[in-house]
This record gives sequence, C-alpha cells and structure tokens, in this order.
Amino acid sequence: MKEHSLLSVRGVRKTFGQFVALNNVDFDLPAGEKHALIGPNGAGKSTFIACIAGQLPGVEGTVLFKGEEVTAAAPVDLARRGIGRTFQISRAFLDMSAMENMTSAFVIANGAWASLRRSVLANAEDSARSMLETVGLGDHAGSRVADLSLGDRKRLEFGMALANDPDLLLLDEPTAGMSIKERHHLMDLVAARIDETGKTLLFVEHDIDVVLKIATRVTVMVRGAVLAAGTPAEIAENEEVQAVYLGGHH
Ligand SMILES: Nc1ncnc2c1ncn2[C@@H]1O[C@H](COP(=O)(O)OP(=O)(O)OP(=O)(O)O)[C@@H](O)[C@H]1O
Ligand SMILES: [Mg+2]
Repeated sequence: MKEHSLLSVRGVRKTFGQFVALNNVDFDLPAGEKHALIGPNGAGKSTFIACIAGQLPGVEGTVLFKGEEVTAAAPVDLARRGIGRTFQISRAFLDMSAMENMTSAFVIANGAWASLRRSVLANAEDSARSMLETVGLGDHAGSRVADLSLGDRKRLEFGMALANDPDLLLLDEPTAGMSIKERHHLMDLVAARIDETGKTLLFVEHDIDVVLKIATRVTVMVRGAVLAAGTPAEIAENEEVQAVYLGGHH
C-alpha cells in the first residue's frame, strides 16, 4: 500500500461465469482526492465500485481501506468503517417529504434503535434541516420526493449519503439522466462539500466536461483493466485514451 492511500486495491478480479469483468485491477486512492473513473460502456466501472462497496460475492484480490483488509466485508461493515454511497430512493419513500427522507437518513446513521430515543429524533431533525439547506433544498423540505425534479432528487440522495459522515464517498453516475445545467449544479455542490469536509470522492461519470472540471485525478478503465491513470490534463492528452473514445466504443 502506498503510504497515504485511503483505499488501496491490488489484483482485483471479478468474473461472471466465464466472463472476466475485472482483470487484475490495481488502484490507489489518497485521502482528499476527487477521483473520476471513466471508460466505455461495459468497461467494468460499476463492477469495480460494487466490489469496493462490498456488494459482490467472489471478489478475488485485496481491498484495503485505512490500511485494513475489507475485501469480503459486508456493506454494513463498510459503512461503519466510513465508506458511503448513494442509493436511489426506493418507491416506498417517494410519498414521503424531502425532510422525512433526510431525517430517516440521520436516524439510521445513529443506529437502528436510536429512533426510539426522543433526543435522537430531535437531533436528527436539526441535522436534516441543516443538510437540506446545504444541498439547496431548504425551500423544498415539505415537498413529496415524487414531486421533486430529478436534479433536486439527486441532491437529496447526495445529502442522505452524507448523513453518516463517510470518509470515502462512492458515486456511480450521479448525473445520469440530468440536463447539462443540472449535472454541473450537482457536481459543483459535490466537489464543494468534499473539499469543505475533507472527504474523498470516487465517482463514475460519462460527461468528460464534468470530469475535467471536478476531478483531481482520473482512471480510465477498458475491458476490465486500467488503461491509464493521471491528472485530468494528462488523461486528456493521452493518445491511447483518445483512441478508445474516438474509436466508437463509447
Ligand atoms: N451481474 C452480472 N452478471 C453478468 N454479467 C455482468 C454482471 N454485472 C456486470 N456484468 C458484465 O460485466 C461487464 C462490466 O459491466 P459494468 O456494469 O461494470 O460496466 P460499466 O463500465 O459500469 O458500464 P456502463 O458505463 O454502461 O455503466 C459488462 O459486460 C456487463 O455485462
Ligand atoms: Mg456502470
């Protein structure tokens, strides 16, 4: 492991039957980076994120987080250690308000039984109100999630992911389906929060303009392997990377 890596991945391999989705991936993520994972469809980006988040069985290789092996750890364990990710808000929660969703996120962050204590609920409501302000939803606290725009909903999901104060945040295509304006709005907010709170970000993003604006470092994945890693400027100039994107794979 490199000295300052928050996350260190060595020789990670994941197969689905005969198909090799990830082949011997090495990856280092120093604390404080906003690291973009890019590559054509089917490259293995989501599989890689799922491996780190403990959502896939049968992952070979080693994943170290804060220097401790977490290769086969369960998602709950990883969350407790400080790895967070967004989850799409499920149908059941669409009828609830933004405030109710955010409050549940803070209650859950305090542990399942914490909601039974009145003081925890009051604190969760205070935290939820403040987080709604942070993600620009202060005026929508009472709105049903189903009535929010996609951009508002994504910012709510992001705020909910911050509720348990993760050190590393994993975002798989947070801007999927959004307009260019909404995309930049969300990712500017994400970048600002990551910087202000000293967290670390690993995100998958197809919009290269967003990547070049937000990322401090970029890894390019192709067919289950790392093709290149570097600063956004290095990646933009890399001829192998250009060939992948100009070659019509994307
Ligand atoms: N559960 C699964 N069972 C079988 N094959 C899978 C499974 N999950 C992913 N794959 C295959 O692994 C490969 C990598 O998929 P993955 O979703 O990681 O790609 P990706 O880089 O995230 O692509 P995209 O940009 O389209 O999201 C694809 O060929 C996909 O079909
Ligand atoms: Mg994907």
